[in-house]
Amino acid sequence: MSSTKRIWVTGASEGIGLGLLQHYQRLGWQTVGSSRRTHGPAEADHWIPADLSDSAQRTKAVEQLTQDLGWPDLVVLNAGVGHWAKASETERSDAQRVLELNYWAPVELTRMLAERAQGRALHVVVISSIAARFGQKKLASYSASKAAVALWAESVNEEWQGSAHRIQLILPGVVSTNIMRHSIGRDGQALGDRAGTHRGWTVERTARAIERATRTRRFTHILASPGVRFALILHDLCPSIFYVLLRRKP
Ligand SMILES: NC(=O)c1ccc[n+]([C@@H]2O[C@H](COP(=O)([O-])OP(=O)(O)OC[C@H]3O[C@@H](n4cnc5c(N)ncnc54)[C@H](OP(=O)(O)O)[C@@H]3O)[C@@H](O)[C@H]2O)c1
Repeated sequence: MSSTKRIWVTGASEGIGLGLLQHYQRLGWQTVGSSRRTHGPAEADHWIPADLSDSAQRTKAVEQLTQDLGWPDLVVLNAGVGHWAKASETERSDAQRVLELNYWAPVELTRMLAERAQGRALHVVVISSIAARFGQKKLASYSASKAAVALWAESVNEEWQGSAHRIQLILPGVVSTNIMRHSIGRDGQALGDRAGTHRGWTVERTARAIERATRTRRFTHILASPGVRFALILHDLCPSIFYVLLRRKP
């Protein structure tokens, strides 16, 4: 039996997911990636194309992974989409697209993998966002989807205590990717050139931090500066001061 470890990363064609494939390939893991694209990047040893907002394609992806490639040692449920529109201007169909990928895909993929575990250990890492922890203008649907998946994962973590399975939650702050360009705007289209600049941690640094997190027993990992972590504590302890300061930010 091969001792090479296998990772499955969703949303692996670019951004954080691609950074994870690169990082784990360097570590000698067998990398399996997924996204809507038919062909994956060179960093993927295997590619499972799937639109993970579609329930039938989610099932097919899990079957392809477990039947054709083998049981994964680590699954990073990273595929996600942003949404940038005022709550009052948000179409229900757009909010549903966001929830389908950001919430239902991790929920359903985890359930299907757990059903197929047959005594094997399952280690799932869910990529949420610090946006799950406070409200921001034009991010209501995105933040709600990330908050929903975070609390779902926290609940699963309780259910899995004492079992062979593990789940961990990652809350990245701003990471330099094209997520804003891909975000759905109020017209239902990707923002593209209308997106503002989005600069933060590099994907390499983020991938390293995620990999470090998987080697700990801790459930939640916030990938952000001490200043941002302090702001999140301030939000929980004294939201009124937090929001006064947030509104002053340029
Ligand atoms: N960047 C940040 O600042 C930041 C901060 C906090 C949290 N996050 C979270 O981190 C994750 C990755 O974000 P990112 O910044 O790397 O975003 P990104 O650069 O926009 O990449 C998103 C990835 O998801 C895939 N994807 C999109 N729709 C999909 C679908 N329907 N089915 C399957 N795959 C799909 C995309 O591939 P295709 O287009 O090829 O399908 C791409 O590989 C997301 O969950 C995001 O919410 C990001």
